Order: sequence, then structure tokens, then C-alpha cells
Amino acid sequence: MTSEPPYSCAILTVSDKGSRGERQDTSGPGLKKILIEQGFEVRAYQIVPDQMEMIQEAMRRWVDDEGIDLIVSTGGTGVSPSDVTPEATRPLLDREIPGIGEAMRQASMLKTANAMLSRGIAGTRKASLIINLPGSEKAARENIAAVLPTLAHAIYKIKGGMKDCGATQG
Ligand code: MTE
Repeated sequence: MTSEPPYSCAILTVSDKGSRGERQDTSGPGLKKILIEQGFEVRAYQIVPDQMEMIQEAMRRWVDDEGIDLIVSTGGTGVSPSDVTPEATRPLLDREIPGIGEAMRQASMLKTANAMLSRGIAGTRKASLIINLPGSEKAARENIAAVLPTLAHAIYKIKGGMKDCGATQG
């Protein structure tokens, strides 16, 4: 385990229609491009339906078996009956980081009042950071943009990085 970049990441698109091939996933590939531009190594990308067990299986595998530094999910954070991504994520977390969800919603409210409907959470599991983003490509982009400036510093600290915060902050 290293506390220095480049960090690895995995992208999980959570969508019933996407998993059945009835809708093309543009959010996952959009996030992939953004994260590569930010210097992340994208190790995995998967589409799963809005199903607790399948969401959890992917997240557990990526953290526990593969030690991936950052897991980003997109979709299933809203208030439709099928939306279960935060419920699937919460029991996997050792520690929640409420500020990440707060920052994403705060920034997103400047774009659309519907931002208050995203219940996405974030937190740590072992030495990894997990973040839920909403599902549309626009929403996923706008939400990750709000946290990009602090992602590398967050992962550095989660891994026990000892440098002063001022020395690693963007
Ligand atoms: N946040 C931003 N920045 N931009 C958006 O367009 N869409 C919202 C919200 N967050 C949106 C956003 C909408 S319409 C919904 S329903 C919720 O995210 C939940 O989306 P999800 O169920 O696809 O995860």
C-alpha cells in the first residue's frame, strides 16, 4: 500500500436499464475520462442493476480483494423505489465522510434544485474511499467536479499519509 499517487480507481454504474443493455451508459465512460485526466489509473468498470447484493459484491471485491484506492458509483442515489445505492454502500463503510456528500449537494444546488434528491454518501472502507454519485452523465460530472480538488488529499490521508495538510493540498 502506497500513500502516493498515482491512485487506482474503479467505476460502478448502477442502473437496471444499463445492466440489461436497454440504455447506453454514458456516465461511467464520462467519469472514466475525468478520472484519467486527474491522474487516476482506472482498473475496473462494471454495470450492475439496482440491487443491494450486486452493488456490495462489486465494492467488496474492489476494496477487499483488489485494494483499489477509489471506488466511484453512479446511479441509484435518488428517491425512486428502486434506488438503493446509499443503503448498499453504508454497511460497507468503516467511517462515513459526510462532508463529501454535503459538498456535492451544495455545489449541485447551484445547478438544479433536484440536487437535494440525491442521497449519495461517501466514506472509507479499509484504505479505500467510496463515493456515490447520481446517475445521469450531467449529474455525475457536476458532482465529481465538486470533490475533485480534494480527492488525492483525501486518499493520501486515508492511507495514513503523514505530511502536513498544507503540503499535499491542491
Ligand atoms: N446533481 C447535479 N449536479 N445535477 C443534476 O442534474 N440531478 C438530480 C440529483 N443530483 C442532478 C443532481 C436528480 S434529477 C436526481 S433524481 C438525483 O440526483 C438522484 O439521481 P440518481 O437516482 O440517478 O442517483
